[in-house]
Amino acid sequence: MTAHYEVRGPVAVITLDNPPVNGMGIVTRKAIADGVSKAEADAAVKALVITGAGKAFSGGADIKEFGSPRALAEPNLLSLILMVENCSKPVVAALHTVCMGGGLELALGCHYRVAQKGTKIALPEVKLGLLPGAGGTQRLPRALGVEPSLNMIVSGEAVLAEMLAMVPGQKLFDQLVDADVLGAAVAFAEGIADKRPLPKVRDLKALHDSPDAYFQFARNMVGAQAKNFPAPLRCLEAVAGAVTLKFEDGIRAERAGFAELMMTPESKALRHAFFAERAAGKIADVPEDTPQRNIAQVAVIGAGTMGGGIAMNFLNAGIPVTILEMKAEALERGVATIRKNYEAQVKKGKLKEDKYAARMALLSTTLDYADISNADLVIEAVFEEMGVKQAVFTRLDEVMKPGAILASNTSTLDLDRIAAFTQRPQDVVGLHFFSPANVMKLLEVVRGKATAKDVLATAMALGKKIKKTAVVSGVCDGFIGNRMIEQYFRQAGFLLDEGCSPEQVDKAIEAFGFPMGPFRMGDLAGGDISWAIRKRRAVERPELRYSKSADLLCELGRFGQKTGAGWYDYVAGKRDAIPSPVVTELLAKHRATLGYEARKISDDEIVHRLVYALVNEAAKLLEEGIAQRASDVDMVYLTGYGFPLWRGGPMCYADTVGLFNVVQAMKRFARNPHDDAAMWEPAPLLVRLVAEGKSFS
Ligand code: NAI
Repeated sequence: MTAHYEVRGPVAVITLDNPPVNGMGIVTRKAIADGVSKAEADAAVKALVITGAGKAFSGGADIKEFGSPRALAEPNLLSLILMVENCSKPVVAALHTVCMGGGLELALGCHYRVAQKGTKIALPEVKLGLLPGAGGTQRLPRALGVEPSLNMIVSGEAVLAEMLAMVPGQKLFDQLVDADVLGAAVAFAEGIADKRPLPKVRDLKALHDSPDAYFQFARNMVGAQAKNFPAPLRCLEAVAGAVTLKFEDGIRAERAGFAELMMTPESKALRHAFFAERAAGKIADVPEDTPQRNIAQVAVIGAGTMGGGIAMNFLNAGIPVTILEMKAEALERGVATIRKNYEAQVKKGKLKEDKYAARMALLSTTLDYADISNADLVIEAVFEEMGVKQAVFTRLDEVMKPGAILASNTSTLDLDRIAAFTQRPQDVVGLHFFSPANVMKLLEVVRGKATAKDVLATAMALGKKIKKTAVVSGVCDGFIGNRMIEQYFRQAGFLLDEGCSPEQVDKAIEAFGFPMGPFRMGDLAGGDISWAIRKRRAVERPELRYSKSADLLCELGRFGQKTGAGWYDYVAGKRDAIPSPVVTELLAKHRATLGYEARKISDDEIVHRLVYALVNEAAKLLEEGIAQRASDVDMVYLTGYGFPLWRGGPMCYADTVGLFNVVQAMKRFARNPHDDAAMWEPAPLLVRLVAEGKSFS
């Protein structure tokens, strides 16, 4: 059973009990309906209370059911709510902790609502590219008023019950209590048991002084913000229907909007990302109940670009951090940067002065390893050189207390070699942050050969605590994200050789949805860094072909924004990328040297070559076991590389296109004599999936 029934005097209490958040799948819905029927049939029962056990009233519909026949099975959410609303005895909802989505829609079908302070109230469906489809868009505006409801439904954000209770004229809550909401609701139910007629939210009017002007204004605002997502505007139209249509017609329109949105690729992508985020936290051979190590004190080695940002994550989470450097000046510079970052947040009103002070109070610095020996976790972010890493890890092995986790933020070096510098490789893990480390959501947790399971479990939990999306990667050059992006950049280079300009490539992939194309991104990151990587590659993997154009550019000293010129020209103090005649000439000359005739290349070809280069490399990562699952790759790209969210990540996109079509395109690219046929050899996993008619998901 996923809901209990009990009778307290004249009041029947139905308690949803489907942990963790009392999701309303079919079994729970049936149990609620059974409870209502039982109460109807029992002459001794005068009123009903519906509440939730544990940590929620209800988090809403069971989204695993979405799009499956189970969601429609009777009683579905709509018919259950109708049954509650039509109950001949008063039904009181007792709301606490979390009341969202279908949970709020059910509450709106009840005749009365008693809420405990602190309850988070939301209709978050828009975040999955949907609209509230069980009457939420019709009943909430009637109970709460049009404007606050529209804000909630279009943003999907949660609002505390006590805030909503202050909305003038609201009929959402009949009573607000500090504690024991169930006791209060039962007492309330006894008090109104004989009152008739039963109040129904559907009978209220959703009123607005000047609805036409208001909705037109809102349409402009929402339309501008929602850009690639259709759901927010559909939510808005549904709410407008609450004002202009009869209740039944409004419900019908809401239903139609829901069904339509359910089929959009945007909603599919958002739902995919929702599940992908949850799946990423799980590691197949590390059970969820694996004990974790306690992390109360963190040390960071190196106060450079990454070290400072990494430290901020822990300060923000209330965990004390000590930063260690070689020289006092480096420490001062590092701390000054942290201060500058926080002060910018204070200026923007995003951080309160007292919080800023509290965070800085958690920060200490040192030049002496003895001062960090008691840390539970130490993260190394020193120069990217094996010799330097060796010196640091040898020292850490000497001083750190037993059981401390020793992490490296290396982006390219072999973590297993780093671990071997210590006598405790089981305690060594990679924590690969992305720059700027205090902003970027992605954290690659790099699992070495010897990394202990409890270290992994701790790292994943810690990732959550500092609000990152943690994704596990095995050890390889570049891990998941950077190993894939290298193929993307190689393709970008070949496109230049064949006739594209940097701005054509950038514009095409930006129109696809990336915030920045490869050349603008290269100029931001600095061309010297990738130049160094290519030089290393030339030694390690001489068979790997690159376009020479990037090297030619670097030979001119054009490293990007930091030198005022790269793939584009820059005006001092500005970041606008201005197409450069120097680059146009460089590319033309280079093509002439290659003996290539510049060819007109379509935007479609550009996008597909760049994205399928990612997909093919990712399929190899999956096969090698570096990435655990295709959806992990999607999370890496959504949170670390700006892959457009409404496309769900490269693997989800490939599934949408169809893997057969993806492989066909790869074969076509391989026939292009100026491209690198070897890189378009479809990964065996792709070939197998196509043969079996399967997709990554
Ligand atoms: P950085 O050059 O800005 O900072 C390195 C800092 O380490 C310097 O302040 C230096 O004084 C200090 N340092 C060097 N040797 C030391 C030692 N033996 N003991 C104590 N401190 C020492 O470098 P950045 O960019 O912060 O990179 C650090 C690490 O993070 C590298 O492994 C890099 O590959 C990795 N990484 C860098 C990213 C980036 O975008 N910059 C992204 C992800 C990882």
